[in-house]
Amino acid sequence: MMKISRLTTCSDSEFSQIEKLINVLSTSCKANRKVVAEIMENKDTYLFVIRDDANNIVGMTTVCCFTIPTGRHASIEDVVILPEYQGIGLGRKLVQHALETLKATRLQYKVGLTSKPARIAANALYRSMGFVQKETNVYTLEI
Ligand SMILES: CC(C)(COP(=O)(O)OP(=O)(O)OC[C@H]1O[C@@H](n2cnc3c(N)ncnc32)[C@H](O)[C@@H]1OP(=O)(O)O)[C@@H](O)C(=O)NCCC(=O)NCCS
Repeated sequence: MMKISRLTTCSDSEFSQIEKLINVLSTSCKANRKVVAEIMENKDTYLFVIRDDANNIVGMTTVCCFTIPTGRHASIEDVVILPEYQGIGLGRKLVQHALETLKATRLQYKVGLTSKPARIAANALYRSMGFVQKETNVYTLEI
């Protein structure tokens, strides 16, 4: 039985589990304890984790809610499951949980996410959950 919850405190061992997941997502990003603390303090940002029977974190995603003149938006970010737990429905469960949490607020959200075309499983997952691809150019700038 896999449990999903919002992370509100983070022990050293939980942090190292998160660190492992960040390494699955990216070879260039480093986990940072202060950043995790900042996420947990922010009421508009939800870090959802999914745990195995031994209570170890085996997957996570972060949902960021923000309001702009065109409405309330929620962005689903950094969806990741440990490789040994992939392909058994946990990613879908996690994203479903994120959407249900937003629905439970009874507020109207435009939910967005991005995924590189090379991420075959992720793109298939999002499409199968009803996300529709939008033509847009994505830009980033590190400051
Ligand atoms: C993407 C990811 C989160 C999906 O989680 P998961 O637990 O492995 O996926 P699930 O078992 O819940 O499968 C959900 C759907 O994803 C798709 N999928 C999963 N594995 C797939 C694979 N190997 N090839 C193609 N599609 C796949 C299928 O559509 C599947 O639905 P189905 O089982 O009904 O066919 C996970 O594979 C992962 O962590 N990948 C590495 C990190 C990553 O790419 N993150 C996304 C960043 S945008």
